Amino acid sequence: MKAVILVGGEGTRLRPLTCNMPKPVVPIVNRPFLEHTIDYLRQHHIEDIILALCYLPGPIQSYFGDGSGWGVRLTYVVESSPLGTAGAVKNVASHLEDTFFVLNGDVFADLDLTAMLAYHRGEKAKVSIALTPVDDPTIYGVVETATSGRVQRFVEKPSWDEVTTNMINAGTYILEPEVLEYIPARTHYMFEHGLFPLLVGRGEPVYGYPSDSYWIDIGTPEKYLELHHDLLSGRSARSLAGQTGGTATEEGCHIHPTAQVGREVIIGRNCTIARGAQVTGPSVLGQGCRIGEGAVLEGAVLWHNASLGAGVRARNCIIAANTEVGDHCSLMDNCVLGDNVVIGEGSQLGRGIRVWPGERLEPGTISR
Ligand code: GTP
Repeated sequence: MKAVILVGGEGTRLRPLTCNMPKPVVPIVNRPFLEHTIDYLRQHHIEDIILALCYLPGPIQSYFGDGSGWGVRLTYVVESSPLGTAGAVKNVASHLEDTFFVLNGDVFADLDLTAMLAYHRGEKAKVSIALTPVDDPTIYGVVETATSGRVQRFVEKPSWDEVTTNMINAGTYILEPEVLEYIPARTHYMFEHGLFPLLVGRGEPVYGYPSDSYWIDIGTPEKYLELHHDLLSGRSARSLAGQTGGTATEEGCHIHPTAQVGREVIIGRNCTIARGAQVTGPSVLGQGCRIGEGAVLEGAVLWHNASLGAGVRARNCIIAANTEVGDHCSLMDNCVLGDNVVIGEGSQLGRGIRVWPGERLEPGTISR
């Protein structure tokens, strides 16, 4: 069984985290996102994986190589310009001779792929689309199905009086190779607005596979943070190698005896937490982070070598690699600092402030 993972998007909504790094390798609990996806596929005995790349392919190829380090075979196909979700799969058609999976490369889900495949085969579907429920369907494209599970209609952002279902496309599909003939070659073409409505219109058997298991797409910083919080508090069934719930500290860390580290905190190698600092979960510190005296961190995700000065307060924010936050700064909910940022001491960054990679903020900057 083969799977195509779509990893060519620019990840614009996740900037500044994706300015220099493609979304598939942003760290999730200190491991590249795609590593979690590859593990997940392997758990379902899918070991032949084709990566459809476009934006910043280099870091992905150099990190994963031929995949043997992860027990899988990886094939890379790089688009010279973005071909869209379906166009990207058409572009790798020469590698696909049998039923195959397609996964959006930014979805983290507990969906049972093995059961979905059995469903697909049982229904003799040409396409099966995993469906997941959402609270507010009016901001998504919903998928209407008959009681048999057969897809009847796709409705883009329905108004509340048009809502007949809260099930949306979960970004995981099973396709029969013959449907690739409907996708134009070397053309930007999408599953959601192109191939799937076309197949339904032609009466082809397209089925929805509903699942209410854990599902999130890490398209925005808020969702990225939410995934960390969910993983650390055990909301997903996917294993984090025993890291859910408690505190895990890797080797080489220096945690001052007066520092307080709460539950649901993961601390990477060689971190330093100074006197009187507090780290409250769910939080993650990448390798080599430094937390200054009396600093208070709550619900934060730090990438490697982030350094927070004395008395810093950082709540529910994301601090990318090699960033320096000066003494007595405060960072409020959903602040996102890109790589190599320097925040001068005493600065105050309000909710949702984004700082671009390499930016330097003067001491005492107030940004709300
Ligand atoms: P935004 O720019 O923030 O919308 O993100 P995105 O385009 O990276 O992600 P989006 O949610 O729009 O796309 C869903 C998945 O399809 C992601 O895993 C993308 O990497 C992937 N994807 C989107 N467009 C392309 C494309 O043209 N080629 C390839 N190979 N993958 C794509």
